[in-house]
Formats: sequence, structure tokens, C-alpha cells
Amino acid sequence: MSNIGSYDERIKNFDWSIAEKELGYNNGNVLNIGWYCSDRICQLGKADKMALLWEDSTGREKRYTYNDIRLASNTIGTFLKDLGIGNEDRVCLFMDKIPELYLGFVGILKIGAIAQPLFSAFGDESLYVRLHDARTSAIITQRKHVGKVRKIIDKMPYLKHIIVVDHDGRKPLKEREIAFSLEEAEPVEHLEIFPTTAESASVLHYTSGTTGQPKGVKHVHYSLIAQYLSTRWVLDLQEDDIYWCTADPGWVTGTSYGIIGPWSVGATQCVQDAGFSAEAWYRFIEKRKVTVWYSAPTAIRSLMKAGEDLVRKFDLSSLRHLASVGEPLNAEAVVWSERVFGHPFLDTYWQTETGSIMLTNFPGMKIKPGSMGKPFPGIKATVVDAKTYEPITEPGRVGLIAFRPGWPSMMRAYWNNEATYQGKFKNGWYLSGDRSSIDRDGYFWFTGRDDDVINTGGHLVSPFEVESALLEHEAVAESAVVAKPDEVNMEVVKAFVALKPGFEPDADLELRIMNFIRKKLSPLAMPQEIEYVDSLPKTRSGKIMRRLLHAKEWGEEVGDTSTLEDDE
Ligand code: WTA
Repeated sequence: MSNIGSYDERIKNFDWSIAEKELGYNNGNVLNIGWYCSDRICQLGKADKMALLWEDSTGREKRYTYNDIRLASNTIGTFLKDLGIGNEDRVCLFMDKIPELYLGFVGILKIGAIAQPLFSAFGDESLYVRLHDARTSAIITQRKHVGKVRKIIDKMPYLKHIIVVDHDGRKPLKEREIAFSLEEAEPVEHLEIFPTTAESASVLHYTSGTTGQPKGVKHVHYSLIAQYLSTRWVLDLQEDDIYWCTADPGWVTGTSYGIIGPWSVGATQCVQDAGFSAEAWYRFIEKRKVTVWYSAPTAIRSLMKAGEDLVRKFDLSSLRHLASVGEPLNAEAVVWSERVFGHPFLDTYWQTETGSIMLTNFPGMKIKPGSMGKPFPGIKATVVDAKTYEPITEPGRVGLIAFRPGWPSMMRAYWNNEATYQGKFKNGWYLSGDRSSIDRDGYFWFTGRDDDVINTGGHLVSPFEVESALLEHEAVAESAVVAKPDEVNMEVVKAFVALKPGFEPDADLELRIMNFIRKKLSPLAMPQEIEYVDSLPKTRSGKIMRRLLHAKEWGEEVGDTSTLEDDE
């Protein structure tokens, strides 16, 4: 049974104080997410309850109770504190999905520092721009990733500590590197929690835009209020659930709903540190008896591709509630999941900037497959006209998705980038940068992004970042990067490249350029196709007309190019 009740009941008399009361938080008091995710659950008498069931691709497993989480985060927190790290220092987590990533996150928050998780597949350039922008003080990483840090260390005098969690003593550590082993460290029974309050900074997530470098989205400890309540009401996490969030904490889903949500409600969650394989996923659900599963459309489409026969080889009867985020969830995927798992994936919509689920389908609500659902209680959402920023009242007309600012988990700033932050607000609304219509019943229907950012497999890639990196390749004179349609990932990166004189446009060079981007940025940012061109279409002022190339890829009407030129 769900703990939610009807949508209308929930929305009536809604107030965020519902979550404050449940969490025992009084306005103005100390509020620390790290404490809420560990010590508080122990104080509620659940110290011995399983908090984390972890395994890797070889089947090696580790288990942590809430008391283990409390001790491990105390131990990591104390280690950082002893290095001189404290209030609002940025500490980067740069690891695969190993336990230290989850426990380190909690430890960092406990000492009042800011957690800056970054996807471990990032290459040195992606890593550098994000550490440099944040002037990060310390990075926690693994042996296998430390080489990328060493490559850029000379450019980062502010990065004082590189903490290696699996140093085996075989190769000597280098400048500024220090070993920390959670297993060998003396567990710290008592750590004084830094007295963060609602507006103290907690997490810094980097997200990609169309122009400029990635933006650091600053969140605060008060975000807990919305993350906690949406975990209870949308993900419907209850006492006996075994929860699986497939997202990597390098992305916001993996922190808001892969750490903070499940642990603040005291649920048991499991983590699989392995690449995607349909068979391995089903085996994991069967073995762990997963009940609540939060995933993404690209994964669901990959499962659909793997076929129904595979599903039948496993006992997946433990599943009771499925949700999805990150990209448009097509109606077929909803219908398919209902047929094969006995439960539909419920679509949820939100962003790094919003910190928690904004538009959603609930248990207890009529689901319209293909729709993102309705606003979460307490969220005032609409679509506005792209020119006047006035709400559109006509059902079915497409506009820009807009939210009335003021929900608890809303970003508080783009790090060092006040102008871009202010630019997100128009006419009293926060503009998400996505387009949608709203039907007569108040359901939102996604139609697309309002910018050139590429959403590949649920991960945002900036064409600007890829173009900048391409220009660093010796053969590339100029480039334009756009999204290209893809059956599974929805979109993939495609680059148009004009070569410098003396370079041959052949397949070998294409591979070399692809690899160059994969290593520098990430596998996701790597172009899946490179089209050689003699020159790129430009506006009169010399800017490359990405949208013209985009329209061609998607077989769309190019329209009046003179207006395209004006817009660019
Ligand atoms: C897209 C991920 C369609 C959207 C939590 C948004 C979606 C961006 C959906 C945020 C959905 C997210 N349907 N599109 N249900 N959910 N998006 O910041 O374009 O990595 O602006 O946060 O993903 O991506 P981000």
C-alpha cells in the first residue's frame, strides 16, 4: 500500500511545515543533512537497520547499517577536519560508485564543508574547469583516477589535498596526495556536527549550459525538506522497502534521491557499482529483492531492447513501485513496464537547479502515459509565453516551463555567476529552459528544451564544451556540435568539423578525434559521429549557426535563416 493518498488530498492545505514537523526541525535551528542521514536515524532506534547494501561487478559486497554510516561519516569528517577543511570549503568526490563516495558525502556535510560530486568518467579537462571554478580545497578519489588529477595539479594551487581511498603502498604518493583507508582508520564515535542552518551551503553540482563553461549549482541544507517529502510521497519509500536508485551521485539524481532522500527517511538502499547490462540489472533486483526502483528512460529503453524473454528468466515479483527521471519517458515505455513488471514507470521531471522533483506522477493519481504529470504539492508551476513571460491559460499551447521561486530545494546561486543566475528569472518566474504544454486536466506534456544543450541518455552535454575541446585537437580548424537522434539514448553528440590544411578527412582521424574528446571530457561527450565539412554556416557576425545544423539532423524545417541569424 502506498502512504500517499490522493493527489487532491495532498495538495489541499499543503505546507512545507509538514516535512519540518516530521523531521523535528524548528525554524532557525541547526539543520545538517549529514546528521539527518545518519545520527538521527540511529536516535530513532534504527541504528542496526541496513542502510547500504553495496556490490561491484564481480559480486563482491559490503553492508552498512545506519550505525556504520554514522561512524564512517564521523571518521571521514574527522580526517578532513584534521587536514584543516571546514566551513564551506569545497570538497570534491571523484570516485566510482564505491561506499566511500556515499559515506564521504555525509562526512563532508557533517563538518559544514560543501560536497562537490563529479562523475568519475570525466577526463582531465572536464575535471579542471569544475575544480577551478569552485576553487576546490580537496578531492577524494581512487588510484585509478588520480592520474587525471596529477595532470592538472600544477594549475590548481588552491587544491591542497588529494585524498586517495585505496592506496596500497605499491606506488609512492606524489605532491599533496595523502592516503585514507576507511577500513583501517580508527572509527570515530563522536564528531561535533558543524552548526549549519537552513541557508548554509551543502552541495555544489555542475551542470552544462549552451554557452560558457559549466555552472556550479549551489544548494543549501534546507533542500532536505523537499527531498525528504518527495522521497516519501513520490518514491513512496516506506519502512520495509529495498530501494534502488540507478543514478551516479556525480549527477543530482544520485545525491538528492541516491543519498539524501533514502537515508533521511531511514530506508535500506542498494548500490551496484557496475556498467549497464540488462541481465545484471534483473539479477540484482532478484537478488536484493528491490521494491522501489528509480531509473531513467534510456535505461528503460535499453531494457525494452533486451526483450521480454529475458525479464521472464528472473523473479522480479518484489518490485512494487517504479519511477523515472532525466529525459522524456515515452508512453510505450510506460505501457511496456506495466505489462512486463506489473507496474508502470512513473515519470518525474526536475533539474539540477530545482534540487527535487517538480512535476510528477504519484501513486494514487491518474497516470497519463507520456505526460510528466502534475506539480508536486507546494510547487506553483505553469508554462509562460516565450516573449511576454505571461502564463498561458489555453490548454495544449506550448510555452516555457516556469516555477514560482521559493520551494525549499531551489538552487541559491550559480557559483560565481550572479548574472546568469538572475537571467533565469523573468516576470517573477524561474524559467527551467524546457518547453511543455498543459492539458485541460493540468497534466504537463514535455515538448523539448529551449536551448542547444544535448541530453544524451539523461545526461546534459554542452555543445560549447565539446566545440572548445575539439579546437584543441591539432587537426581541427572549426567545429559545430549538435544533437543527433538516437533510438536508445534519445540524443547523441554529433560534430561537424572543418579540418586544417594538411589533414585528410578519413576514418582513422575520425577515431582519433573521438578518443581525444572521450579522454579530455567524458565518454558521454564523445561525438558518435563526425561529419567533415569544408566550412560551417555562419551568421553575418561570424557565429556558427548550430540550429541550422540541428534542424537538418532532425529533418525539421529550417525556416527563415535570416531570423536564425538575428537570434544567434
Ligand atoms: C530533462 C536531472 C523530459 C529536462 C534531474 C531538464 C526531462 C533536464 C525530464 C535536467 C522528464 C528531466 N521529461 N525531460 N521527466 N526530467 N528532463 O539538470 O530537459 O541533469 O531540464 O537534472 O533534463 O537535467 P539535470
